[in-house]
Amino acid sequence: MNILILGGGGREHALAWAIAQNPKCDQLFCAPGNAGIAQVADCVAIDPEDGDAVVAFCADESIGFVLIGPEAPLAAGVADTLRAAGILTFGPSRAAAQLEASKAFTKEICDACGADTAAYGHFTDAETAKEYTRQQGAPIVIKADGLAAGKGVVVAMDMETALSAIDDMFGGAFGAAGAEVVIEEFMEGEEASFFVLSDGENVLPMGTAQDHKRAFDGDKGPNTGGMGAYSPAPVMTEEITQKALNETIIPTIKEMAKRGTPFAGVLYAGFMIKDGQPRLVEYNVRFGDPECQALMIRLGAQVLDALLACAEGKLAVARINWANDHAFSVVYAADGYPGAYEKGTEIVGLEGLNNGSSLHVFHAGTTAKDSKTLATGGRVLAITARGDSLKQAHDRAYKAIEKIDWPEGFYRTDIGYRAL
Ligand code: AMP
Ligand code: GLY
Repeated sequence: MNILILGGGGREHALAWAIAQNPKCDQLFCAPGNAGIAQVADCVAIDPEDGDAVVAFCADESIGFVLIGPEAPLAAGVADTLRAAGILTFGPSRAAAQLEASKAFTKEICDACGADTAAYGHFTDAETAKEYTRQQGAPIVIKADGLAAGKGVVVAMDMETALSAIDDMFGGAFGAAGAEVVIEEFMEGEEASFFVLSDGENVLPMGTAQDHKRAFDGDKGPNTGGMGAYSPAPVMTEEITQKALNETIIPTIKEMAKRGTPFAGVLYAGFMIKDGQPRLVEYNVRFGDPECQALMIRLGAQVLDALLACAEGKLAVARINWANDHAFSVVYAADGYPGAYEKGTEIVGLEGLNNGSSLHVFHAGTTAKDSKTLATGGRVLAITARGDSLKQAHDRAYKAIEKIDWPEGFYRTDIGYRAL
């Protein structure tokens, strides 16, 4: 079948790389894609958030399956538009994407299904929010309700920071996303992510991962979209994974179905783990980036069968063949990211690095020009490796990144330090 992937980051490159290896995939397209994706798919200049344009393209190219990578088209209802046009689609409806698009919605679902998460209050004005915050005391967590590109969360260790975050959010620092604010109990522990496919009824775990959100070594510097990840997450033991599934994920899936808005897609659950108890931090309704790169290098071609089964409502009979392996991904970002950075700088030395299923350089923000690879984004490459141990995967990735010549880029040298 012909397949279309929406998105153009490292996550979509990893998905394209895995899917292209599956014999069920005839022609693979990606909109908009990037220079790395262009090596495995035909990149097309369509806006992933323009559902009608995507439907028209699907008709022209006889697309049998569409996979939606990022959250923005999901929150915009592109999955609904595609399904209404009779196109087999991976990705939740706009109503189910509320699990990422509204933090207050997720808290309400947790209340309704009894999932363990931080105590919270939900506010629409600054004064009441501040009163609650003063009563609760610091540390406390202030969150813009809506999508804020990962920037709408302030973990306030003191009252002054908390109160000024409330002013910022209601003052419009995050636009419409901050018109409502959720204030949460500060949870201590170790964080990990758990990726679970659901067809609305059944679930199929896709693996666990941990990422590093801060820009610099030692978890210092500003928050980013993620500077590196590894899978599996050692903190997600078999027992904790089962608890997360039985006490949080499955109850959420049942609650969404009960409301008539079943969740079909990948649920990316962030947990805080302490004393053997996983507590939900947040949901996303898509794969994580760069977590996806680590998951895909472990799963390979079989991921297409799982995603198709998910979209077709046949997850009950789907299986994953797990190898006893580990994956590791380190992000090469442009100097200045997550702030302002230069675009159009040249990256040299990428040829010959990719090595079967043990090492792959996934592209996030690149373009090809006159046979050169140029950096066009903040996070630009994700050097991803697989090994029998986390150490082996780590060493493979770092050995490869040293061969890349890109003076205008930087990467963390300590990804995975907690686990190693
Ligand atoms: P979120 O966008 O909800 O994942 O929040 C971003 C980050 O803020 C999380 O990955 C956590 O590190 C931190 N965080 C969010 N909520 C809490 C909480 N209730 N307690 C402690 N840390 C939190
Ligand atoms: N790596 C975090 C995210 O994809 O949201």
